[in-house]
Amino acid sequence: MRATRGAIDIRAAVLREAGERAAIESLTLAEPRAGEVRVRIGASGVCHSDLHVRDGDWPRPMPIAMGHEGAGVVEAVGPGVHSLSVGQPIALSWLVPCGACRSCRAGRVWACVESPSFRHRMPDGATVLAGRDGVAVLSYCGIATMAEATVVPVSAAIPLPAGVDPAVAALIGCCVTTGVGAVLKTAAVPAGSSVAVIGLGGVGLSCVMGAVIAGASRIVALDRVPEKLDAARSVGATDGLVATGDRAAIIAALRELTDGGPDFVFEAIGRVDTVELAIEALPLGATAVLVGLTPFEARASFGVYPLVDGSRRILGSNYGFADPATDFPRYAALHLAGRLPVERLIDRRIGLDDLEGAFERLRAGVGLRQVVVFE
Ligand SMILES: NC(=O)c1ccc[n+]([C@@H]2O[C@H](COP(=O)([O-])OP(=O)(O)OC[C@H]3O[C@@H](n4cnc5c(N)ncnc54)[C@H](O)[C@@H]3O)[C@@H](O)[C@H]2O)c1
Ligand SMILES: [Zn+2]
Ligand SMILES: [Zn+2]
Repeated sequence: MRATRGAIDIRAAVLREAGERAAIESLTLAEPRAGEVRVRIGASGVCHSDLHVRDGDWPRPMPIAMGHEGAGVVEAVGPGVHSLSVGQPIALSWLVPCGACRSCRAGRVWACVESPSFRHRMPDGATVLAGRDGVAVLSYCGIATMAEATVVPVSAAIPLPAGVDPAVAALIGCCVTTGVGAVLKTAAVPAGSSVAVIGLGGVGLSCVMGAVIAGASRIVALDRVPEKLDAARSVGATDGLVATGDRAAIIAALRELTDGGPDFVFEAIGRVDTVELAIEALPLGATAVLVGLTPFEARASFGVYPLVDGSRRILGSNYGFADPATDFPRYAALHLAGRLPVERLIDRRIGLDDLEGAFERLRAGVGLRQVVVFE
């Protein structure tokens, strides 16, 4: 294990213009300063949020080194860092709480208003990457995981127990925490509830795994791609529905399977039509949890009278209401105990050079979670 400080050269996926290919570039990574650590990346998942950024659905400053679902091993620590040591396996959090805003003060760190992660820089505004021309490159969410190594604030590197496959640890960094947390924390689904999950990518399959842990009695998995239903069954869904065609027919089939409609519906795609489907499918007293992220400007509509009269609820869920420092190790422990079969979400391990291919497959809905792995 190299423990050297000093700047190093790394390869990373860099987006210089939204809608363009993410290029694999050679960059200089600065040495970790006080409060920072350098992480040698073991694996980085390809999340649909990366595709939103790549395709320009969300405005982001450029140039930016991509990736936010990553894990690895601490390789070097900055001066005065004692909480982590070289060789410690970690997963990276894409949200470092500021600790001072009204949400952080209230203990809702997932709703931090001032997180430095939103600025894609270190908390003091510094950047850690530069291109061959010497010009600064931002780090997506301050962690830039689609890179051989990264320098992050120490609070973004969450220690995990030994023995977790880096690819699984990477997924704990985003989709697992987002989906499992949406069920266990945002919705706090009571045992015996009926649950529907619309969209079965890494996030939706994690909602299914969360519903199993919550003790849901019925878990109906919906996707437009039939093969995804098998994946959902393999992690605990009790039923599957191919969600194509007429909305009323989908809702009727869902009601049939759940004694009049599910207690909770999780939308894990980020499309206006499926958000509206999730809300329309609710029986009286039930809850829609919106987890998928749309392009910025999207608006959805719902009938106000039935929502109010039927005491229905709509919840937004960012990062599964995670406090990463406590939730990552909990999810890792559940995985090691065999209760969170994250490895079943991973069906393709690729090299950094195949990232554009991975984006194409993700756009087309082909396959399950793809993970970029590093030597
Ligand atoms: N709230 C958060 O904190 C958070 C965190 C991570 C990701 N996300 C968002 O969650 C969403 C899902 O992410 P992912 O990585 O799992 O994506 P994904 O692309 O892997 O999965 C989406 C799934 O939806 C299915 N689908 C697409 N259109 C459909 C339709 N019309 N009807 C039925 N099924 C359809 C696809 O076949 C696919 O299985 C994205 O919008 C992502 O940005 C949100
Ligand atoms: Zn993500
Ligand atoms: Zn805050």
